[in-house]
Amino acid sequence: MNDRLLHGGDYNPDQWLDYPSILADDIRFMKDAKTNAFSVGIFAWAALEPTEGNFNFQWLDKIMDDIHGFGGKVLLATPSAARPAWLAQKYPEVLRTNNLRQKMLFGARHNHCFSSPVYREKVGIINRKLAERYKNHPALYMWHVSNEYNGECHCEYCRENFRKWLKDKYQTIDNLNHAYWSAFWSHTFNDFSQIDPPSPLGEFAVHNHNLDWKRFISYMTIDFYLNEVAPLKEITPDIPLLTNFMGELFTRGTYPSTGVIHSDFAREVDVVTWDAYPAWHNDYETTAFTASKLAYINDFYRSLKGKPFLILESTPSMVNWHPINRPKRPGMHLLSSLGCVAHGADGIMYFQWRKSRGSSEKFHGAVVDHDNSGSNRVYKDVKELGHVLESIKEIKDTSTPAKVALIYDVENFWALSDAQGFNNIDKQYHQTMHTHYRAFWTQNIPVDVITPDKDLTRYDLVVAPMLYMASKELITKLHSYVKNGGTLVATYMLGIVNENDLVYLGGLPSPLKEIFGINIGETDSLYPTQKNALIMSCGKEYEAFDHCAIFDVLPGTEVLATYGSDFYKGNPALTRNAFDKGQAYFIGPRTGEDFLVDFYSGLIKADLPINGDEEVSIQERRNEKNRYFFVMNYSEEEKEISLETAMEDIITRQEMTAGKHRIKPYGVFVLKH
Ligand code: GLA
Ligand code: ZN
Repeated sequence: MNDRLLHGGDYNPDQWLDYPSILADDIRFMKDAKTNAFSVGIFAWAALEPTEGNFNFQWLDKIMDDIHGFGGKVLLATPSAARPAWLAQKYPEVLRTNNLRQKMLFGARHNHCFSSPVYREKVGIINRKLAERYKNHPALYMWHVSNEYNGECHCEYCRENFRKWLKDKYQTIDNLNHAYWSAFWSHTFNDFSQIDPPSPLGEFAVHNHNLDWKRFISYMTIDFYLNEVAPLKEITPDIPLLTNFMGELFTRGTYPSTGVIHSDFAREVDVVTWDAYPAWHNDYETTAFTASKLAYINDFYRSLKGKPFLILESTPSMVNWHPINRPKRPGMHLLSSLGCVAHGADGIMYFQWRKSRGSSEKFHGAVVDHDNSGSNRVYKDVKELGHVLESIKEIKDTSTPAKVALIYDVENFWALSDAQGFNNIDKQYHQTMHTHYRAFWTQNIPVDVITPDKDLTRYDLVVAPMLYMASKELITKLHSYVKNGGTLVATYMLGIVNENDLVYLGGLPSPLKEIFGINIGETDSLYPTQKNALIMSCGKEYEAFDHCAIFDVLPGTEVLATYGSDFYKGNPALTRNAFDKGQAYFIGPRTGEDFLVDFYSGLIKADLPINGDEEVSIQERRNEKNRYFFVMNYSEEEKEISLETAMEDIITRQEMTAGKHRIKPYGVFVLKH
C-alpha cells in the first residue's frame, strides 16, 4: 500500500445498512474501479452508538473486513463532526451558541461547541472505543479525524476560555488595553472579566480584539482536535493522523479557507489534506484560469509541510453547492486529478463513493450513482484514473523543486479585511495573491505558497504581496533574507500595522526602509473606473489601478518606473534597492498580470526541457533519479508542445521523441526525464 497513490473516498455504509445487496455491490465496484482507500464513518456516530453507552460496531467490523478482503485500506474517521439526537437532547451544552447569544438547536453538522466538557468527554469515549477495537485491524491505515473543522461558539464555556486565553497572552489588563488601543471610545477595561467575544450586539470595531477572537477560535479548534486524538495517539501511536482542510468559496471560485491558522494546525497532523472543489466550466473565466486557482491552493497546502499532501475530497463529476453545478466534461476528471498530483498530491479521493438516496447531498456527484452501475460515464472516468494512478505510482513521495516563495498569511488577511479605509468594498488579498501566483504559473515556474513561519533561505525569490500586517519577527526574517543574498518583492500596503493591528509609528518600519530603500507616505485608492499608469524607464506602460502607494526613495535606490498621472505623476512606482548581498523590489501600484509576467520573467526563468503554450501547464515533481513533467492542456483546443529530448510518458509507457507533439484538449502527459 505504501507504494500506491491513494484513490478512493468518503464511504458512508451507515446510510445503507438496510440494503445489504448495495453494500455487497460497493465492495465489488471498489475493486473494479481500481480504488484502494476509503474514509469510513465520518458522520456515523448514530450508527455506532445508537443510544448512550450502547455501542454497535458489527456493521463496521464487516466493512473493515470486506475492504481488507480486496486489499483496500481504511482512513477510519472519528465521528465528532455530527452527533446523534440523543446526545444533543440530553446535553444541550454540546450545541453552539451563535454571536447573537442564541442557543442553536439540534441539526445540520459541524456545529458543536469546542469547549463543552461533555462533548469532549463523549468524543473521547467513542474515539477510544474505535481505537481499541481496530488497533490491530489490517485495514486501518490512517485516522481521518473529524471533518472540516470550522466555526465558532459564544457559549459561557467558550467566553470563559477566551478570557483565559487573553490573560495568558497579555498577562495584565493594561497590556491588553494598550494592544486594543482601548482609550478610543472609552473602552478601557478594568478586568479581564469585562471582555466578551466580538458580536454585532456589542463590540465589533476594535480590530485587534476581532483578530484575537479569530486567533482564539483557531487555538480552540486545534485544542479540541488534540483532545480528540489523545486516545488515538495512545492506543495506535503508529497510525498517521489527518484532518481535511478546505477551500473557501468567494464570489468567483475558491481560495484557501480562512477559519484557522493552518500553519499551527499542520504541526499537529501527520499528513496535510484538503477538499478541492473548483468550479470547472464556469462562464466567468477560462479553464486555465480555474486551473491556476486550484494549483495555487494545492501549492499552499503542500507548502504547509513541504511534502506531498492528499486530496481528501473531490468530485468525480459535480458538486451540489456551487451557484450552478456542472458535470466535468470528458477528459476533465483525469486532467484535474493529475493536475493535483502534479502539484504534490499523493492521492485523489472523492466525496462521495455512493450518492445518497435522500437529504441534502442526493444530487452531489459520486463514483456510484443512483443507477448502481459500473457503466456510466462518471464511473468509467474514475476507473480510468484508477488505472493511470497505478501506472504512475513511482510519482509517490517525489518533491516539488520550487525556488520561488509567495508569502500568504491568513492573519494578514483577517487584519486587512477588517481595516476600515482604503477600498472598503473588497481589499482583494486573495485575488492579488493569485494574480502574482499566475505570473509564475503561466511561465511554468514552480512556487511554494508559504506561511510566515517558514524558512526563507532556500528560495531565490520571495514575494510578499499586500503585507499590511507584518510582525516584528517577520520583518526581521525578511531583513536577514535580503542581507544574505535573497531577492524580495513587496507591494503597496506594506508593513502598515504590527501583530496587534497597531499602526507602526514613523512610517515604514526601519528594517523595511533599509532593505527597500524607500519611505512610503500616502496610499491613493481609486474607484473601479479610475486608472493610473506605471511607466517603465524604457517607456513601456502598464495600467495601475485600485491602490497606488506614493513613496520617496532614499539615496542609492533605483527607480525603474514612475506613475503616469495625477498629482504624483513622475513619482517612483517601481524601485530596486541593492542591500548587502541581496536586493529588494517595491511595486507601488496594483497592476494586471501583464506587468507581473514581464517583471518576474526578468527575475527568474523556468528550467524545463519542454516548451508549451500559456494554457498548457507544465509542472515538475522529482526525486534523486528522475524528473517528472506533468504536461496539461487546460484548454478546449489542441495545442503544440516541443520536447528538447526524448522522454517516456509513464501513463501510456510510450516513448515520446524529441521535437514537436500535439496535445489534445484537456490532454495530459506525465513525462519521465
Ligand atoms: C465537504 C464535506 C463533505 C461533503 C462535501 C460536498 O467537503 O466534508 O462531507 O459535504 O463537502 O462537496
Ligand atoms: Zn461553546
